[in-house]
Amino acid sequence: MRYVIFILFLASIISCTEHREARSHRNVRIDSLLSVMTLEEKVGQMIQLNITMINQSGVPTDHRLNEDKLRDLIRTYNVGSFLNGAATAPEKWFRYSHRLQEIALEESRLGIPIIYGIDHVHGAGFVEGATVFPQPINLAATFNPSFAADMAKVTVMESADLGHHWIFAPVLDLGINPLWPRLWETFGEDPLVASEMGHAYTEALQDPNHSTPFQVAACAKHFIGYSDPRSGWDRTPSHIPDQYLHEFLRPSFQRAIDAGVHTVMINSGEINGVPVHASPRILKGLLRSQMRFEGVVITDWKDIQKLVENHRIAENEKEATFLAIQAGIDISMAASSTSFCVYLRELVAEGRISETRIDESVKRILNLKQKLGLFEHPYPSKDRLRQIGAEANRLLAKKAAKESIVLLKNDSIGSAPLLPLDRSARLLLTGMSAHSKRNLAGGWTIQWQGAKEERYPEDMYTIKTALDQDFESVRYVPDPQELKRLSKRADVILIATGEEPYTEFEGNINDLSLAQEEIELIETAVATQVPVVLLLVEGRPRALNGLEKKLAGIIWAGLPGFEGAEAIASVVSGQVNPSGKLPLSYPAFSAHHTAYHHKPTETGTWMYPFGHGLSYTTFEYSKLSLSDTVFSESIQAKVQLENVGGTAGKETVLWFLKDEVGRITRPVKILKHFEKVHLNPGERKEVFFDLEMADLMYPNEKGVPVAEPGYFVLQVGDHQKRFRLPEWSK
Ligand code: BGC
Repeated sequence: MRYVIFILFLASIISCTEHREARSHRNVRIDSLLSVMTLEEKVGQMIQLNITMINQSGVPTDHRLNEDKLRDLIRTYNVGSFLNGAATAPEKWFRYSHRLQEIALEESRLGIPIIYGIDHVHGAGFVEGATVFPQPINLAATFNPSFAADMAKVTVMESADLGHHWIFAPVLDLGINPLWPRLWETFGEDPLVASEMGHAYTEALQDPNHSTPFQVAACAKHFIGYSDPRSGWDRTPSHIPDQYLHEFLRPSFQRAIDAGVHTVMINSGEINGVPVHASPRILKGLLRSQMRFEGVVITDWKDIQKLVENHRIAENEKEATFLAIQAGIDISMAASSTSFCVYLRELVAEGRISETRIDESVKRILNLKQKLGLFEHPYPSKDRLRQIGAEANRLLAKKAAKESIVLLKNDSIGSAPLLPLDRSARLLLTGMSAHSKRNLAGGWTIQWQGAKEERYPEDMYTIKTALDQDFESVRYVPDPQELKRLSKRADVILIATGEEPYTEFEGNINDLSLAQEEIELIETAVATQVPVVLLLVEGRPRALNGLEKKLAGIIWAGLPGFEGAEAIASVVSGQVNPSGKLPLSYPAFSAHHTAYHHKPTETGTWMYPFGHGLSYTTFEYSKLSLSDTVFSESIQAKVQLENVGGTAGKETVLWFLKDEVGRITRPVKILKHFEKVHLNPGERKEVFFDLEMADLMYPNEKGVPVAEPGYFVLQVGDHQKRFRLPEWSK
């Protein structure tokens, strides 16, 4: 039988070599395909190499293929996947991807297409002219998951046609450690917000309708426990109790898995002394068995090599390969070396790894390629390039940016709050981000670490040029002496401070405080007695260490993307009533910090807590009621929300739950539900939350949900109500 299938298969190969187009339309049977693959061909599917291995200069920004190198890699190693690049014109991407696939299909005996992976983490940031959304931390600040869906949809519309099959997003790590240089890539510190945002993003990205016939795979990363290293630095050790891992770190990944995420990327770091890439307990026990993930597991960048060079848990790369494969890796993002293929073949030849184990991974990879339609539609298309950067897409990014801006402080000067400012107000503008495009967008934009200023779109606004549109007099002064001199003729000083783009280890810092020059600039401005408004353009919350008390206003802008400057200006001018809320607890100091869901013995010393965000109107909460004070199957909670101010606005209603007494120490409170509500002046609405049993339960150290009878407190706005889960409900 096997022999017959083989002959049939060979016959189809021969005829299809002459009719390559026809072959690309066949419906591949993965099992038959697998049955005729050699070990070398199988192992080739399990490696992913970087663009630098197949381009002409070996520099990641170069999209000119070196065809000889590519042919050689496919002939010798049967490589099945490549990754990366940097912002390049769509036509160039098209040519590169088309030729890459053509050569891969020519050289691959069985005509297996390449799958291409890329880090489009906030829109197609590596496609010139594409729409660039706010970074995920800003999307979280909107508390509106539909923006995560919009971002995914637009990313697919603007890159799937170019042969970008596999998007390395969403980042589902929790942003709980403010020092960590990838905080801005997360949806913040709350597990529910991260779950809702990640779910909306994943579903939209993998929805086959946005770019038919092309389909795209999402990648939930970095599984698991990457974001809270003890030292705060990238890829350094974490110590995570199992119970905490299940309660806080698992939900966002679980939600994405339940939504059908096709792939998962593994955390480069170690947890409790075990690098995750070599942990069967986490990869098999947790990810596959408990969390029921059936898709493709990819390593992070060179992480098998790093088991030797960084973690030092293997003597050499062959042993590291053994450990990672046995732990459950399907694809090695080996990036710039093919030795993985050599070692894996040897390990199988020596009988240390079974071919059945290899088949498991290869089957998943081929299934993924089939699900994405790659066998049928392997080639990119240039028919719809005009939709890249289309006005409608940019409007979605701008809307998201506007809802992501958080008004942290707005002192009254005289009888009225300082912000919004009148069009005629004379503004003096300064700070490192005041006239910068790159600082608005952050890392993974144009290039890995962001690019030089001149590489950003010509029509992109900086904060200065955006304010120029909305105000009659904006004077930009980079120098503190000038600032002092000109302050006499200013009504308000705006300081746009923060950080330059970074990601990964390049963003490691020793101190959360703002840079010394920026602190001096703020102090100079404050000394002029002119009211000062600080605009924080930053990927992580840089501490002000008390300086905030001297400021009249503070706006957190995060990393609002290419449309971000206009969003900031429209909040300053009042064209937009701010509705963002902090998706993280903003530390007051550069050292002491806890998340909002801290334990009872900890104290939050935040400058502003999670969920804080002011509006130009006032929302009043009243009449909180519960359908019962004793929980049986559910409780319906209801609160009235009224806009008692004079401006239309949006309020995110946050429902927190506190478990009064636990078998183990419980967080002081945890978010259970959120909803964003729009109200016109004078309008009121009833807002509901149906509490289910699952809301009262929390996982034990094995990940099994448990319920503990006793008292709970439900909190919304400045109101709270107590109810009881009786003993018999156990
Ligand atoms: C990062 C990943 C990224 C990968 C590919 C790694 O260094 O940790 O988030 O997807 O590189 O660029």
